[in-house]
Amino acid sequence: MKIQDFVKMLRSQWITVCVAVTVAVLGAVALTLLTTPLYQASTRLYVSAAGGASVAEMYQGNRLSQERVISYTELIMGETLAQRTIDKLGLDMEAETLRQHVKASAKPDTVLVDVDVLDESPVRARDIANALSDEFVSMVRELETPEDGSRPDARVVVEQRASLPTTPASPNWTLNLLAGLAIGLLAGTGLAILRGSLDNTVKDRESLEEMTGVGLVGSIPLDKERRTEPAISFGSDNSAIAEAFRKLRTNLQFLAVDHPPRVIVVTSSMPSEGKSTTAINIALALAEADHSVVLVDGDMRRPKLNEYLGLVGTVGLSTVLSGRASLSEVLQATKYPGLTVLTSGGTPPNPSELLGSLAAKKVLSELRAKFDFVIVDSSPLLAVTDAAILAAGSDGVLIMARFGQTKRDQLQHAVGNLEDVGARVLGAVFTMTPDRGSSSYSYSYYGDDASSRSRRAATPVESQDDAPTRAPTPELNAAPPKVDPPRQSNGVAVVPQTTSRHGHASAD
Ligand SMILES: Nc1ncnc2c1ncn2[C@@H]1O[C@H](COP(=O)(O)OP(=O)(O)O)[C@@H](O)[C@H]1O
Ligand SMILES: [Mg+2]
Repeated sequence: MKIQDFVKMLRSQWITVCVAVTVAVLGAVALTLLTTPLYQASTRLYVSAAGGASVAEMYQGNRLSQERVISYTELIMGETLAQRTIDKLGLDMEAETLRQHVKASAKPDTVLVDVDVLDESPVRARDIANALSDEFVSMVRELETPEDGSRPDARVVVEQRASLPTTPASPNWTLNLLAGLAIGLLAGTGLAILRGSLDNTVKDRESLEEMTGVGLVGSIPLDKERRTEPAISFGSDNSAIAEAFRKLRTNLQFLAVDHPPRVIVVTSSMPSEGKSTTAINIALALAEADHSVVLVDGDMRRPKLNEYLGLVGTVGLSTVLSGRASLSEVLQATKYPGLTVLTSGGTPPNPSELLGSLAAKKVLSELRAKFDFVIVDSSPLLAVTDAAILAAGSDGVLIMARFGQTKRDQLQHAVGNLEDVGARVLGAVFTMTPDRGSSSYSYSYYGDDASSRSRRAATPVESQDDAPTRAPTPELNAAPPKVDPPRQSNGVAVVPQTTSRHGHASAD
């Protein structure tokens, strides 16, 4: 894994990392709060050996003291002294327990011994430290006094007595929180790597194109506003999502220049991947460029266009197909200039049969004759055959994949279903791509590297406009973008490639 892939994965899995860090830090806080505070009282002992009068003897005495100091630390932490201290203070405690709370350390090359005692009570910590030191002084006297009762070879004095500790020595908040943070970061990164390697959703241009076998023709960013108002007001909107649809519109005009598709089915593998929302806005974007567009709700099982566009839903395609109304009676004009909608109508018991009927073919060809573009919203490919049936009767299909949601195998299956009926897949569209920054319709997630750029084709944008009578669209007024040499892929997708200001080739 390259470092860029790693960073990309961490970015996409940032929630996992944040959750792990939060849990670990909260754990550290809980642990710290639950830990009984311990107070530390310390004394310092000074060890001296009986010296002589001469310098050599004094030196030797000092050396002896230094050597003794090591054994003394062991004695201070030993069970005998602990028991003596317990007896002296009348403590209700095992010698072994006390021993574990006593720490003695010798300073190298000195004759000093530091004694630290930990206890839940600050007073008792101080008393134990002092009593233990006093007991040690007597113990050394007993040990170091020769049999004949002459002067002891070494003696210990309590150089510094313990004072009352005011703040607990443990738990250590800073240390515990830092440890929690470190553990959280490590665990979070590990989990992110694991989840990233188990994640089989489509998240980049390469895998989308690999799974569908066609080029990426659009990336529609996630835009929360679309949940309340699916239709974009193209006249006044220059947001990232509106721009993304304009780019998709331009790309549609590049697709199969010899036989430009006019009846286009919008579909995807699963529900809720943005088919209806995308279909509406593709239609609106085409209408913005002065095309006459009819939007057909081919999803008879979960019709949404009437709801999303505030139209009558009770009569529509199914009504015409069942012969209860004529096409012109059910076509609904909308408040958007150039856009007519044929809603689904009531849900029939046999949608697949109706959509595969000759009547359906007739309706589509009537619409083709009447409008520049027929955009057909449809049901998910993996749920029912409706979309595949519609696709077979269309000029081409745009297959949607919801960023980070649609699974690779689902997408592959869906395209397989389309191929089985001989439908022509025009291109793939990413929907609900994470919005990163204002001009997010092009970003590095799509692996816009040199290789993918060279695989894409381009034709200068101006030459791609439709009827000369039509008003120029915003992108047609713009200076021609920097383009790569043309490519013809499976004789279908000719995708222009502009270079974004971030240096990445954009997804259009
Ligand atoms: N680009 C988008 N940004 C934010 N939300 C979106 C976008 N496209 C679709 N949605 C939301 O996702 C949900 C499913 O969209 P919809 O178009 O009905 O999908 P489908 O037709 O595939 O079932 C809806 O709540 C819709 O508002
Ligand atoms: Mg839908």
